[in-house]
Amino acid sequence: MQATITVLPGDGIGVEVMAIAVALLKDVAALGGHTFTFQEALFGGCAIDAAGDPFPSETRQLCENCHAILLGAVGGPKWSDPSAEVRPEQGLLRLRQHFGLFANLRPVRAYPMLARHAPLRAELLEGVDMLFVRELTGGAYFGPRQEQGDGDSAYDTILYTVPEVQRVARVAFRAAQGRRKHLTSVDKANVLASSRLWRRTVEQVAAEFPDVRADHALVDSFAMQLIRTPARFDVIVTENMFGDILTDEAAILAGSLGMLPSASLGEGTFGVYEPIHGSAPDIAGKGIANPTGAILSAALLLRHSLGLHQEAAALELAVQRALEAGARTADIAEPDAPALSSAEFGERVRAALRQLG
Ligand code: IPM
Ligand code: MN
Repeated sequence: MQATITVLPGDGIGVEVMAIAVALLKDVAALGGHTFTFQEALFGGCAIDAAGDPFPSETRQLCENCHAILLGAVGGPKWSDPSAEVRPEQGLLRLRQHFGLFANLRPVRAYPMLARHAPLRAELLEGVDMLFVRELTGGAYFGPRQEQGDGDSAYDTILYTVPEVQRVARVAFRAAQGRRKHLTSVDKANVLASSRLWRRTVEQVAAEFPDVRADHALVDSFAMQLIRTPARFDVIVTENMFGDILTDEAAILAGSLGMLPSASLGEGTFGVYEPIHGSAPDIAGKGIANPTGAILSAALLLRHSLGLHQEAAALELAVQRALEAGARTADIAEPDAPALSSAEFGERVRAALRQLG
């Protein structure tokens, strides 16, 4: 098949991990006889420097003319003044909104070979394999806000409509149908009106999916259960900000924030794929970042935007094989054990992929 992929490396380690993910996508194309065309554009802090805008119109045009976007990470100390008028993160929010990417899929699995050195007891991690579906274009991130005013007050509004909740809930229920058929909706319905609407709407959507067991959890107690009994969960659906917080927490289960991929999807097959980690200024430029989240994001791109299910599975298996064979970047290495550079780790995954043929 032919596909055009826009690559937005962004800032910091985003640039480093994208190079590796793209190399693997080229391997996938060569092995499967596909033609992938890559077009790179400025996004985030580097785009602010070059064009005064984290999501410049040239970048937007390339994004509008492709099948999928692979994104590294944005931000860094240079642009980190939260009161600055132009910030890298705004680019991310505008990108999500521009393409109506309301469903953010964040799969979290615990790799058994990493469990021994995870911060949590290995037996807690057995069988951990869950999928977060985070609502991505609503809630406090996009609700009515006031930040200037008299300087003594500010507000953000969590605003949801029934159709917004329905569409993301349906994505989550459909995903559950293809998995262990269990869905947990996370809200704060004991306090927030928006959460009561969320819960009522998810309950209504549940009637369309009688084969899926649906339950509800309050976000504070869920945050605890997520660490106490993580293997219990299958698909989790939640609003934008709760999903942001809970998926960073869930990264502990995977061993490192560097392990986790994400897919941001709208109604069609178009999507934005990015590791959930940030630009990691503390290690940027050292070539030691874990590219796993970026590589697994490329696998999600193959599956969701290009429909290349076998290729996606092969790439995921190649990552697993490399980990099984002991490939470790510093973030997942045993204490005092030698760690691979990002590029070396990438080569190990490439070799594993070639072996799978
Ligand atoms: C994420 C990030 C973003 C978010 C920031 C950078 C705007 O934390 O993708 O999880 O909060 O959504
Ligand atoms: Mn986040």
